[in-house]
Amino acid sequence: MHKVIYDTDPGVDDAMALLFLHRHSEIDLLGITTVFGNASVETTTRNALFLKREWDIAAPVAKGAGVTIDPSRPDRPWPTVVHGHNGLGDIDVPETIDLPLDSRPAHQFIIDTVRANPGEVTLVAVGRMTNLALALRHDPEIASLVKGVIIMGGNFYVPGNVSPVAEANIHGDPEAADIVLTAPWKVVVVGLDVTAVTVMTRSYLAEMAAAGDAPVKLLDRLSQSYIDFYGHIIDEAMMVHDSCACVYLVAPELFETRSGAVRVVCGGIADGQTILKPDGRRFPPGDWDGYPSQIVCTGIQSVKVLDLIRSTLLSA
Ligand code: BDR
Ligand code: CA
Repeated sequence: MHKVIYDTDPGVDDAMALLFLHRHSEIDLLGITTVFGNASVETTTRNALFLKREWDIAAPVAKGAGVTIDPSRPDRPWPTVVHGHNGLGDIDVPETIDLPLDSRPAHQFIIDTVRANPGEVTLVAVGRMTNLALALRHDPEIASLVKGVIIMGGNFYVPGNVSPVAEANIHGDPEAADIVLTAPWKVVVVGLDVTAVTVMTRSYLAEMAAAGDAPVKLLDRLSQSYIDFYGHIIDEAMMVHDSCACVYLVAPELFETRSGAVRVVCGGIADGQTILKPDGRRFPPGDWDGYPSQIVCTGIQSVKVLDLIRSTLLSA
């Protein structure tokens, strides 16, 4: 059984990934921690509680960071054109959800849960990396106590999605991402190289909804405007970014990877760019030296990944 803490900014593709984690028979979802990104942390937390209620998820929700780890970074507008004004494709979501939040901030929830399950917890982080960076800052020892870390973020041999060189989750808090990627733990980076080619069509989702129960039908409804948004680059389909990170947890054989130290550019026109120093390549001394070798996904068997998502979501 994979014990997981899901760090997320729901978020349309975050919602699909949450249902995948909830329904996969080999995954034990210990907690959901929220972060700002696709909307404010107030909104992403409300959305997490909404999905927990609608999908009857037992895992607690802990509210996390609402600003970048370097508070002097300027605020950026929310990506309402992608995830809607409410973060869930502008379907009807009550303003408040009558469910309790965990009393701890997300980073403390992460620390406590990792310490209570040494060597067993995988952190699956699919929003900005702020909560993970705060957890490391407050308790650096957790780096040796987690089982692993899988993030959706970054891009290596393909363009970014918020700038020509940067992906949204990393660009949204580059300093936090650099802390996470250079810490002495094993990070698997599931970025746009693999997620941007893993697209689910509107009709594939509609067929899933027709075959599935109320949670899958809700997922279909909240994904419609996200699919509309992608119309400028793909036809009648959406990239299922965050689910790819969850699939890696249970089916890593569906991915091709390279390894090496990864750094994040902080500032300037390449703000938020992720750069791999491939293991085995020699360079003069530089800014990648002395950091742990991480795993970067560069290839994916998208059809099999989509099939696994489908069978998992329909497994209830
Ligand atoms: C990532 O950014 C967010 O919009 C998505 O939820 C995903 O985690 C893709 O770049
Ligand atoms: Ca996300």
